[in-house]
Amino acid sequence: MYEFYAPTKVLFGDGCLAEASPRLKEMRATNVLIVSGRSKTASLQGFRELCIGLDASGIRYVHFGEVSADPDTSLVDKGTEVYRAQHCDAIIGFGGGSPIDCAKGIAASVAEGRSIRDFVGTGLVFTKPVPPLIAIPTTAGTGTEVTNAAVFTVVDESGRRSKKGTSSQFYFPKLAIVDPVLHLSMPPSLTAATGMDALTHAIEAYVSRFNTPISDMYCLESIRLIGRSLRSACHISEGAKAMQSRRDMALSATLAGVALSEAGLGMVHGFAHAVGALAGIPHGLANAIILPFVMQSLIPDAKGRLSDIGQALTAKDNISPEESVRAICQLGHDIGIPENLEAAGVSPSYFEDILSDALSYRRRKASPRAFTDEELRELLERAFHGAPQQ
Ligand SMILES: [Fe+2]
Repeated sequence: MYEFYAPTKVLFGDGCLAEASPRLKEMRATNVLIVSGRSKTASLQGFRELCIGLDASGIRYVHFGEVSADPDTSLVDKGTEVYRAQHCDAIIGFGGGSPIDCAKGIAASVAEGRSIRDFVGTGLVFTKPVPPLIAIPTTAGTGTEVTNAAVFTVVDESGRRSKKGTSSQFYFPKLAIVDPVLHLSMPPSLTAATGMDALTHAIEAYVSRFNTPISDMYCLESIRLIGRSLRSACHISEGAKAMQSRRDMALSATLAGVALSEAGLGMVHGFAHAVGALAGIPHGLANAIILPFVMQSLIPDAKGRLSDIGQALTAKDNISPEESVRAICQLGHDIGIPENLEAAGVSPSYFEDILSDALSYRRRKASPRAFTDEELRELLERAFHGAPQQ
């Protein structure tokens, strides 16, 4: 028996950002909190268009534009205060994964009437429906526009940072507006890192112990689109091919988001969250570096599934698990992903803290291999200094 639940309505297509205001009107929203990152540089034009549309529709809005990468819980509290003080009745998360996750946290805090901190890493569950939540991604990676998950940074009394995932059926946005035009101005390094985040979602959900025939379908199509278009999305910035690559990547990220809500993630994310929180490496980049190392370690336990992944990624038949890992490495190499964590500038002094965070990763049980603690230590050693195929 399995369940499939993907309740977010998805609007997809060039220029569909223009639908934001009419859809908000349908939801009877009158005063919207827009949550975004500080710079919005990758999507400034889109942000202006959103505001112009709201003005023209007579919908008031308040802009909370303070979200930095990997928002900590105090930032969510701050946004929640703004929502309450301004008497908002709907929330838009506009940007990459960080502002959209922050919007989810604000929505949940408003509904529950308490700080998001009370829910992060504590086991306390969300019980109340949130205000109308709309996600407008400007990167193609996290898939958070359709997921039941949000990740926050927790800072403990000693100042140590860790990233903790939370999930809730109430986190599914009511509407995701996925407009590939918004992704056109992403710089290649951001396209590469976020695209590899989407690939990691699709691969980890596909090999997950909790995969289902429905999540598999989303994963394989996502991987196929990434194999077809991530390189060109990184290397071509103008013309019809650039636009088609953006469409493929936008769709791949959304499909992988649906899959990860169903099937979960694995130890690539277990390590990447720790690397991101402690060493400040962007989430997608951390995943991209660690992905082939974890897949190499999974070969004995997930041979058939790794072959499927390689076939979807390369559009070739009869790919062995080893060739699949090579194809993932080659893709990373072609788009400028460093070979290991050391090459990415992660200090070895973080090793023990990264390992200790990864050992307590809440989704560790989704891994198709029940890694021992010692195996994870060896895996992290290789990811720091080695090459996946050694
Ligand atoms: Fe991710």
